[in-house]
Amino acid sequence: MRRPFIAGNWKMNLVVRDAIRLAEEVCECVGSIPDRDVAICPTFVSISAVAAALNDSPIRVGGQDCSQWNDGAYTGDVSATILRSAGAKYVILGHSERRHVMGESDAVVHAKMGKARAAGLKPILCVGETLDERQAGNTLAVVERQLRKGLEGLTHEDLAETTVAYEPVWAIGTGEVATPEQAQEVHAAIRTWLKELGGPIGEDIRIQYGGSVKPDNVGGLAAMPDIDGALVGGAALTADSFSTIVGFGAG
Ligand code: 13P
Repeated sequence: MRRPFIAGNWKMNLVVRDAIRLAEEVCECVGSIPDRDVAICPTFVSISAVAAALNDSPIRVGGQDCSQWNDGAYTGDVSATILRSAGAKYVILGHSERRHVMGESDAVVHAKMGKARAAGLKPILCVGETLDERQAGNTLAVVERQLRKGLEGLTHEDLAETTVAYEPVWAIGTGEVATPEQAQEVHAAIRTWLKELGGPIGEDIRIQYGGSVKPDNVGGLAAMPDIDGALVGGAALTADSFSTIVGFGAG
């Protein structure tokens, strides 16, 4: 039985003071839902402050990216080790905005996965096709390539600490959510590949869905057998909507 995992990706939003305030509100609203994991991912600059604000709440902090290199002369980068030292437990890697806006290749994402694991961070590996790729019938080929390259060389122990997030690029920030059936089709394929790579561990790896997840559509998505939670963008920016998404199906 996989424990649902809901993470909020705050992207490049919220000055430090507002990030602390939102973290406190999320803490209060989410409270004590014992049967799921929750994380929030602020900008690098707010990680320490948000980790302090969450104090001993069960909500964890994650980064939105980390460097592909170890510590050293890489101006502007943040290594996985530094991220961990600031209080992060998770790190989002291969988000489509990094792949498509910043031009990150599969090889770069793969290097980052290795650094994250070496630093003891739990990676959330994002995969997903663009609209053009979907319309050309290439969805599964694209997702399989991103997944296999991202996970290449990871041990079974590393895989057990990894989450996969399926985020169709056409559904991110557009309000156009994948239907539960569309998402499930891809999640089921991801599950098959994870089992090929990790044997029985593949059955336990959580696969989040991301892309216009809102309080009113999360229930349908979460009812699908291979959808184990959500990676939430816009709706994670208010405590109300995020906590409703976190609480889907609870009580
Ligand atoms: P939206 O929920 O705003 O579509 O963003 C999804 C996302 O990119 C989460 O990583």
